[in-house]
Amino acid sequence: MSQSRKVIVIGAGPAGYVCAIRLAQLGQQVTVVEKEFLGGTCLNVGCIPSKAMIAAGTLVDRIAHASAMGIETTGVRVEIEKLVQWKAGIVARLTGGVGGLLKNHKVEVVMGAASLVDRNTVSVTTKQGTQVLKADDIVLATGSIPIEIPGFKFDEDQVWSSTGALAPKRLPKHLVVIGGGYIGLELGMMYRKLGSEVTVLEATAGALPGQDRDCVKVIERSLKKQGIKLMTEVFAQGFERKGGESHVRVKNKTGEATIVCDQIVSTVGRRPYSAGLALDKAGLAVDAKGFLAVDRQMRTQVANIYAIGDLAGQPMLAHKGSREGLVAAAVIAGKPEKYDVRCVPAVIFTAPEMASVGKLESELDLEKRAYKTGSFPFAASGRAMSLMETDGFVKVVADARTDEVLGVHMVGPEVTELIAEAALAIELGATAEDLARTIHAHPTLPEAMMEAAEAVHGMAVHIFQKPTAGAGPAGH
Ligand code: FAD
Ligand code: NAI
Repeated sequence: MSQSRKVIVIGAGPAGYVCAIRLAQLGQQVTVVEKEFLGGTCLNVGCIPSKAMIAAGTLVDRIAHASAMGIETTGVRVEIEKLVQWKAGIVARLTGGVGGLLKNHKVEVVMGAASLVDRNTVSVTTKQGTQVLKADDIVLATGSIPIEIPGFKFDEDQVWSSTGALAPKRLPKHLVVIGGGYIGLELGMMYRKLGSEVTVLEATAGALPGQDRDCVKVIERSLKKQGIKLMTEVFAQGFERKGGESHVRVKNKTGEATIVCDQIVSTVGRRPYSAGLALDKAGLAVDAKGFLAVDRQMRTQVANIYAIGDLAGQPMLAHKGSREGLVAAAVIAGKPEKYDVRCVPAVIFTAPEMASVGKLESELDLEKRAYKTGSFPFAASGRAMSLMETDGFVKVVADARTDEVLGVHMVGPEVTELIAEAALAIELGATAEDLARTIHAHPTLPEAMMEAAEAVHGMAVHIFQKPTAGAGPAGH
């Protein structure tokens, strides 16, 4: 192994803190500089608090529907202040845990805003004054921030960003969500379950652009069932406050309309964040979208400066950033490592949940690659029935010639958990037949994956598939 190097990691989100811990495990001297909170967006105002609040919404919904199972309840009441406190407790435990891990690994933590002085020097503005730190290597992990659109400046009062929406002081009566992507649908559905009326305004022709359209159809049906109004191909223009209400002006191809609500949340995407870093001082510049270009070793154009996480490109997901952090740490420690993954799973905590990994059919069509698909509906799963969650399906996409699993897309109960098996299959180059031949315990939801893999060959046992000539892989 190479000599211990002095490394500064800027940003303590899931990319930065994971990188710092791995660097320490590999014997490097590490300083983390963080200007706001250990754990970054993900632990403080992103993944964790949103999933906590969504879990609460799901519980309210389950209770509301329990009478079908013969369980009668009366008067479920949501105390929003207590719910927010409970969520804050989870955040505090996790961020405290990150602080403890950094300490145990002897990672120095400096709380302050960092900016580059040159390729080996970082200046940090702390509450106590300015500190100048020197390093052999620097890792930039400053993440991303929500995009603001004209007419909807975030004040976290009348107009929430996702951050405001995760710390409500009261439950909105009518919430207008601008943007029907990941955050808009996760939080919109959560508020609906807690009791708000919800309208989602989406600029494109459907919810969740860029995701598997068959899965999205199930989500769009579910929005309707839940009483959430999804307006597509509309743009919000601005709003006026009148008598304690917000009058949101929206425009589509045919004209303009006004929607009256008492709360707006704008979730139209996030952009990489590098403001204040003075990248130019180290000879660095971002691309047109604000990302820092990196090679497969997470190196920027400047050889001793690395970028990881949301700053380093799409997909802006915590687990992708963490993996990049592990790669950068290994490279800095002199190991022959590179970011070499076949797939990054994506999970969306809507109701029902959606999850996806590998290629979409639309991508394979563009590549002109021949593929086969097999789907299995949760309506045919005994386990799904016992959970009273039969909406959705698992779809396996396999290479038509080699049977290799190229993509798996699913919508339904617990699919955010089920997707891990699909990611492993793709990472290991498994075939649909491999998935089909793996015994899946009964009665469980993952059986749907096994059956979908069988369905690729027209051989699913628990649904009727019209026999086709030559159906079945070699082994059948
Ligand atoms: P961040 O987590 O943004 O961390 C960057 C850190 O750098 C911050 O703490 C910031 O304060 C610090 N920083 C910035 N500039 C400086 C500076 N100059 N000096 C010092 N420190 C600085 N992803 C998922 O995978 N699953 C989910 O379920 C999920 N849910 C989400 C829900 C919401 C509501 C949101 C907003 C995001 C969600 N995401 C989710 C996305 C996920 O949060 C991000 O992909 C992830 O946090 C990116 O990690 P990062 O380490 O690159 O950046
Ligand atoms: P997004 O990109 O997922 O969705 C933004 C949506 O807003 C798109 O559907 C887009 O068409 C729409 N839009 C853009 N401009 C608009 C306008 N002017 N009017 C109406 N609609 C408009 O972005 P989002 O939801 O803000 O999330 C940001 C990122 O955070 C995600 O892309 C994802 O990387 C990450 N995230 C991941 C989660 C997860 O893994 N479960 C959960 C939440 C966020």
